[in-house]
This record gives sequence, C-alpha cells and structure tokens, in this order.
Amino acid sequence: MIVCHCQSITDGDIRSAIDWMRASDPATIITPGKVYRALGKSAECGGCMSLFLDTMRRNDNLRVPVLPRPGRKEEGQTGTCRATTRSSTI
Ligand code: FES
Repeated sequence: MIVCHCQSITDGDIRSAIDWMRASDPATIITPGKVYRALGKSAECGGCMSLFLDTMRRNDNLRVPVLPRPGRKEEGQTGTCRATTRSSTI
C-alpha cells in the first residue's frame, strides 16, 4: 500500500527501513525523518504524515528495547554505596 504518494513510499518500505535501523543500532530513536533518509528520500507536502506515523507505530521494532546498562545492578539487588563506606571509616 502506498503511504507517501509524493515519494512513492509503501508500508513495506517503512517496515523494512525500521527493521534495518533497529538491527543496525538497537538504541536508536527512529523518527519519520530517519525513515525518509534511510530510503534516500525526503518529505515534500507532509500530507501523508498521519498515515506514515500509524504505519511506523504498527512495527514492533519501533520502540527502543530496554537493555541492561553496564555497571548497574539488577532491580531487587542491594549494594553498599562506596561513598557511605568510605565516610564511615574516617
Ligand atoms: S504524500 Fe508524503 S510527503 Fe507528500
């Protein structure tokens, strides 16, 4: 289905671009502008934007996955703050 008539972008093009961007960088925030750039195009009239966004939202890869941050403890673990330990020995 054609989503953007100015640039002849289909829903499949948008899905493919989002999947490619998510595979390339799991933490990237995907915007309509990035999808246009990934497809080598740019928006003209903007009349497709609501359908463009609806198509993007239907892709499960649009959201940034929650990844564990290095050096952070998992929820539920307790630890001792080094600053507290140090200051109590002075
Ligand atoms: S229809 Fe998409 S920019 Fe015009």
